[in-house]
Amino acid sequence: MKKEKETLERLDKILAKAAALSRKEAKRAALDGRVTVDGVVVTSPEQKIPLASEVCLDGRALTVREHIYLMMNKPAGYVCSNDDPKSPNVFSLIGSEYKKNGLFTVGRLDKNTTGLLLITDDGPLAHFLLSPKHHVKKRYFLKAKYPLTEADKEAFLAGVDIGEKKPTKSALLEICGDGYSAYLTITEGKFHQIKRMLEARYNKVVFLTRTEFGGVKLDPSLAPGGYRPLNENEIKVLKSVEKYS
Ligand code: URA
Repeated sequence: MKKEKETLERLDKILAKAAALSRKEAKRAALDGRVTVDGVVVTSPEQKIPLASEVCLDGRALTVREHIYLMMNKPAGYVCSNDDPKSPNVFSLIGSEYKKNGLFTVGRLDKNTTGLLLITDDGPLAHFLLSPKHHVKKRYFLKAKYPLTEADKEAFLAGVDIGEKKPTKSALLEICGDGYSAYLTITEGKFHQIKRMLEARYNKVVFLTRTEFGGVKLDPSLAPGGYRPLNENEIKVLKSVEKYS
């Protein structure tokens, strides 16, 4: 992955990302003398500065980052791509504080699946997290139409046939007390994977939500449709995800 400290970026662009400002607000802040770079006031928004610089806005140090990393609590009814004109997409929920045309979701959740969705403009990291080679864990909470059994648990651990060339990779099913709901941790992301895994056991998913991705948990304070930037620790966890897989 590219080292952030080697990279130069326009001050207004940095400010917009780090302080969640529009480009216009970022330009204004610099022109008004509210911004310092390594202790020196910089009033030209177009000036290119190294990403390793200490940038302060109104005396408050900002975390300068090359990329945007967001977590969203995806609501039901939204799709993860913008090539389906008939359905609203998750990008329409993101406000103008983020320049949206470089953003994409890290993998996709089905239209009726809810929960943790990572959104970024960091292609190499997304590629890493989605590569089947890296076995990144994704944890879901599901409700099934029929009771879940120990035999399902064993079948998922061994791998089931969902009509692909190979059976699914070993997955952990943790059945809850009611017998119908469970947590399921998978390390792949095939189309409709969990729905197809339950179908392979003659069962059916009636509710599905993602609770965790690569060691990052959905923030319980996010309402459906809500999003926030990942914090430093969450970014660190994702970037060192091999430890968790
Ligand atoms: N598996 C599914 O079937 N759907 C999702 O949205 C995610 C995993």
